[in-house]
Amino acid sequence: MSSADAPTEYSLYPPPADAVARAHVSGQAAYDALCAEAEADYAGYWARLARELISWKTPFTQVLDESDAPFFKWFADGTLNASYNCLDRNIERGLGDKTAIVFEADGGEVRRVSYRELLAIVSKMANGLKSLGVKKGDRVVIYLPMGVEGVAAMQACARIGATHSVVFGGFSAQSLRDRIEDTGAVAVITADQQQRGGKSLPLKTIVDEAIALGGCGSVKHVVVHKRTGADIPFDASRDLWLADLVAGQSEVCEPEWVEAEHPLFLLYTSGSTGKPKGVQHSTGGYLLHAALTTKWTFDLKEDDVFWCTADIGWVTGHTYITYGPLALGGTEIVFEGVPTFPDAGRFWKMIQDHKVSIFYTAPTAIRSLIKAAEATEAVHPKNYDLSSLRILGSVGEPINPAAWEWYHKHVGGGRCPIVDTFWQTETGGHMITPLPGVTTLVPGSCTLPFPGIQAAVVDETGKDVPWGQGGILVVKKPWPSMIRTIWGDPERFKKSYYPADFHGKYYLAGDGAIRDPKTGYFTITGRIDDVLNVSGHRMGTMEIESALVSHTELVAEAAVVGRPDDTTGEAICAFVVLKRPRPTGDEAKKIANELRNWVAKEIGPIAKPKDIRFGENLPKTRSGKIMRRLLRSIARGEAITQDTSTLENPAILDQLSQTN
Ligand code: WTA
Repeated sequence: MSSADAPTEYSLYPPPADAVARAHVSGQAAYDALCAEAEADYAGYWARLARELISWKTPFTQVLDESDAPFFKWFADGTLNASYNCLDRNIERGLGDKTAIVFEADGGEVRRVSYRELLAIVSKMANGLKSLGVKKGDRVVIYLPMGVEGVAAMQACARIGATHSVVFGGFSAQSLRDRIEDTGAVAVITADQQQRGGKSLPLKTIVDEAIALGGCGSVKHVVVHKRTGADIPFDASRDLWLADLVAGQSEVCEPEWVEAEHPLFLLYTSGSTGKPKGVQHSTGGYLLHAALTTKWTFDLKEDDVFWCTADIGWVTGHTYITYGPLALGGTEIVFEGVPTFPDAGRFWKMIQDHKVSIFYTAPTAIRSLIKAAEATEAVHPKNYDLSSLRILGSVGEPINPAAWEWYHKHVGGGRCPIVDTFWQTETGGHMITPLPGVTTLVPGSCTLPFPGIQAAVVDETGKDVPWGQGGILVVKKPWPSMIRTIWGDPERFKKSYYPADFHGKYYLAGDGAIRDPKTGYFTITGRIDDVLNVSGHRMGTMEIESALVSHTELVAEAAVVGRPDDTTGEAICAFVVLKRPRPTGDEAKKIANELRNWVAKEIGPIAKPKDIRFGENLPKTRSGKIMRRLLRSIARGEAITQDTSTLENPAILDQLSQTN
């Protein structure tokens, strides 16, 4: 969306009286008071919340340490354990028998796990990892499907102070290998297979392939959870079954008390250059914001059933499955499958069956379920009892007003506030979001900053732009759950988020934004760097280009841009120059398919280009720079209105405009 399309006039949805009455943050005055408190004493505000929401082994005396900016530290002399905060503490509070996780498998089987049971599972796994020699500071790569074991593996790492790095099960062997190598992981925890949409998909064999690619010498152990029981290759010198690892282990595991800044996890995400970056998060500040945003944005209470549909392979699954809801003693759904299996009514049926009260999903899922419901009456949400719902959430990409209205009306029955939460892997938790008992909603706007978050829209010099004018989204002050560094590459951290040539002082989100001239509400206008958002997944254009040109036999050159797509938000378009004459017709289709599969193999199926166009060349300036602006216009099917006088080879534009 360009700033010109940003919404200024839409119907307004004030918070319903019952939502205001029961909310943790109730009413505008309460929100204003929190913002004023943060304004008056920034460190004091976060310190108060950190004491209220987190149990510390050693209480902190320092709050924000800016001495090594932009490498900020929070609560640095405090010690804690994330797993203690999510498990033991709830049992001590009398919630031992409360259901922590309701797991629903792809095929529909349901397993309930209480806090006491989850603590036992986690402790046995933690003791098992310890028995392999895994210790504080080691990295463990987790390549598991959605399930109790996935959440427990993350918690088990946290319990012993090992830093986890979860790799989404849809990533290829090559991507997995890169992450294993970059983290220097000592162990990989995986499953024989994953079960999604009625299909069994490999995991362990991909781990084997990844390790065989080389560079994974740090890996001493591969722990395998038996999910489907499929016959898989097993190397007894390195592989062991999770069941064997935990058998005979004690259900008691003293937590490893770590400093607040101790890296809880690394999570890889796409940036402007070819190589994904390992975003490093802290323990104390991260856990605080995970718990606080779950409490205020979702208004999570004792009797709620919370469901975040994200995968633990993404940050949303970290913050709003593994940590936030458990830190508050909530009950949550963990779902293994996909929204369209056995049919596109699956989400609605699960909300009905489990009496879900808070539901958090991505616009791309909503858009595809709208299409399905419009095509097949039986999977329309009106056929299900969704009366348990009280709050809906959206995350990962802008939600278009039409999808918002449908979600509000057909899923929320017109009763439920929608929290459109803007945040990033790097921010750890919500940054700009409505609060259900406070905010008057405007479809398409993520509204106002979370109390304490100093979000602003500025120009290239770092100066605030007036409301109504588009600009660059920044955060003016460090906040507890922010990225600490890029693993192994502090310079890249500085360059990416605090670039000197920009301003050096503010956190640069990488998104553009505009504030409503009357209300000051934020609307995100899209990435300002070379990052695409496809179905809510972040993809770097250079990452896909690198994958394409690594097919050295076929590809001479490639350029990747995004174009808007009704369902996936953005679609990936690749312009490719082959090492052979430009193909047409069936040959072009065949090669395009081969290249799609190649990208799936190099990165993962989520990175497959939707459109592939072949040219004898790419539009370049006389100095050899690819003119991506022109490619973007071609990808969108727009007439070229830009100045093409600096172009070396203008005739190429016509050729690239032809679809195969
Ligand atoms: C985009 C996902 C508009 C944005 C939590 C951001 C959004 C990127 C929203 C981060 C939203 C996320 N409205 N855009 N509510 N939420 N984005 O790291 O471009 O996977 O920079 O984190 O998604 O994606 P990431």
